[in-house]
Amino acid sequence: MTSKKLLDILNESIARELQVAIQYMWQHVQWSGVKGFAVQDELEKIAITEMKHAEKIAERLFYLGGIPTTKPNPINVGKSLKQMIAQDIKDEANAITLYKQVIEMAEKEGDTTTAFIFREILEDEEDHHDTFTTMLEDLR
Ligand SMILES: [Fe+2]
Ligand SMILES: [Fe+2]
Repeated sequence: MTSKKLLDILNESIARELQVAIQYMWQHVQWSGVKGFAVQDELEKIAITEMKHAEKIAERLFYLGGIPTTKPNPINVGKSLKQMIAQDIKDEANAITLYKQVIEMAEKEGDTTTAFIFREILEDEEDHHDTFTTMLEDLR
């Protein structure tokens, strides 16, 4: 039996994935300037990855008897390029912290599948954190 605590943190994860999927896609749309081209494509790619994360977590949550949330966390698109990427770095760092908690919690409850799914997602978020950090350095 999955605890309510684990189901809740899975929904918290979905709300976060929905948030960044929209946030990065709208940053991709609003991005402009000479420095922008490679970054613009990258933002679209990452936005799609985040939507797939939301799907994967929602499938798992539904299987475990929960109902996936439809509400994203507050979305921060930002105005300048620097503002956008600085925000994204924070959001990826928060995801990394949160997903480590999910893995720990799932393992404690003997739910190795959820732990496995989040290990894979965590790897993507660490990649994103790296990518955004490099982008911000290039913008200075
Ligand atoms: Fe994600
Ligand atoms: Fe991410």
